[in-house]
Amino acid sequence: MVEENSATELLKWYVESGVDEALEESPVDRFKTTEKPSNQARPSTATGVEESVSPSAFDTPPAISPRTATELISLDEATKTARSLANAANTLEELRTALAAFDGCPLKQTAKSLVFGDGSGSAQLMFIGEAPGAQEDRQGLPFVGPAGQLLDRMLAAISLQRSDVYITNILPWRPPGNRTPTDSEIAACIPFIERHIELVTPQILVLVGGTSAKTLLGTTQGIMRTRGKWLEYNRESMSLSIPARAILHPAYLLRSPAQKRETWMDLLEIRQKLEQCADR
Ligand code: URA
Repeated sequence: MVEENSATELLKWYVESGVDEALEESPVDRFKTTEKPSNQARPSTATGVEESVSPSAFDTPPAISPRTATELISLDEATKTARSLANAANTLEELRTALAAFDGCPLKQTAKSLVFGDGSGSAQLMFIGEAPGAQEDRQGLPFVGPAGQLLDRMLAAISLQRSDVYITNILPWRPPGNRTPTDSEIAACIPFIERHIELVTPQILVLVGGTSAKTLLGTTQGIMRTRGKWLEYNRESMSLSIPARAILHPAYLLRSPAQKRETWMDLLEIRQKLEQCADR
């Protein structure tokens, strides 16, 4: 009993400290991993009893070899599948169903929920963050954790609420332990966020944080360089061009409150542009 209690206490302490996933130290790029080891890898005798083999031969994970052409095709195929599923969707609901059917992004396997979007699908202002965190994964809604609560207050500061805007993320599945998504995970899912933008067709796009800005503006510049000015989100193939504003991520603002002032200026300009759009 005493042991059971101390195990529960330890587990509680882990959860309170933010340890909510069993993880390796670095992300596993499942687009890169080699084929599963075959059954021959663990020899057994005719009686089914394992022969005495050094355990290290099996405990060592297979070496990750440089990408081969076949592995590249598999990311390419994931993106192609994503593109055809996404483009066949003509409504947000169809897009949600298409995403739920997509198995090309390994994050789907570790996430609890598909976090699709929130707010009004006909909003003029669309916010796009990076990827869901723990609370978003639990509730299946974007920006509901501490960063999301700050985003709500930022919206309120310019007289808006969630139901006045549309909110989604580049990735619909939580990366384990909130790690930064890999380029392959983003590449596999890009067709969905592109279609998401086409279906909402907002007047203004707000790219929340560096990953969102880099991905959708196709730039390598950091958020400190992209924020503070009007940019364009362009999709020439769709004749789509939408004014875009990159802002500091609220999770960053929680850690660096001194930067809130800059973001306040960005928000005021977004509000002003929104009013101009409404007057047109
Ligand atoms: N951070 C994001 O970028 N998106 C969320 O939904 C939550 C936190």
